[in-house]
Amino acid sequence: MAKILIIYSTTDGHTRSICERLQSIAANGNDVDLVAMAEQPDIDIAPYDKVVIGASIRYGKHKPEVFDFIKRNHAALEGKANALFSVNVVARKPEKNTPETNPYLQKFLQKIAWKPDNLAVFAGKIDYPRYGTFDRTMIRFIMWMGKGPTDPTQTFEFTDWDKVDEFGRRIVAM
Ligand SMILES: Cc1cc2nc3c(=O)[nH]c(=O)nc-3n(C[C@H](O)[C@H](O)[C@H](O)COP(=O)(O)O)c2cc1C
Repeated sequence: MAKILIIYSTTDGHTRSICERLQSIAANGNDVDLVAMAEQPDIDIAPYDKVVIGASIRYGKHKPEVFDFIKRNHAALEGKANALFSVNVVARKPEKNTPETNPYLQKFLQKIAWKPDNLAVFAGKIDYPRYGTFDRTMIRFIMWMGKGPTDPTQTFEFTDWDKVDEFGRRIVAM
């Protein structure tokens, strides 16, 4: 039985939903803790055998808390089985949905010293009705630029859950 930490950075909760799915897969025979980075930024990762970090993109960036967490835990992360994944809507496009082809994940990797052993990128969700006026207008514009859906009354979930499940199995195997 491995002790696994899945720690996530989210704004609207979709990265948490992905982590819950990963947890349900990895929980088979393992002890899995699911933690919000914003709630426990200083969590001690020493007791864990494996650490998985998930983070979403907003306005082109992962949150500063993700950089801070990785910086603080760099040495400890390298001593464990580890993985990192990013959630963004650009990943709905087939040519941008792998760790090698997703621009946000690539840019992120260039900014951190840590080299995660396992990487993934998942397409996120656009929930227009839940956003305030400013965010709704901005993300509609971003989607329009990328030829995505812009109906402000609708919710669009682009996540490939089979891909999430596959990553969950990789976490078990790593
Ligand atoms: C205001 C806003 C800005 C966003 N900016 C980007 C962006 O620049 N690029 C992108 O690919 N996705 C962008 N997204 C999409 C999010 O990454 C997507 O909604 C994701 O599922 C959010 O995950 P979370 O709920 O865990 O925060 C944006 C979403 C919102 C609401």
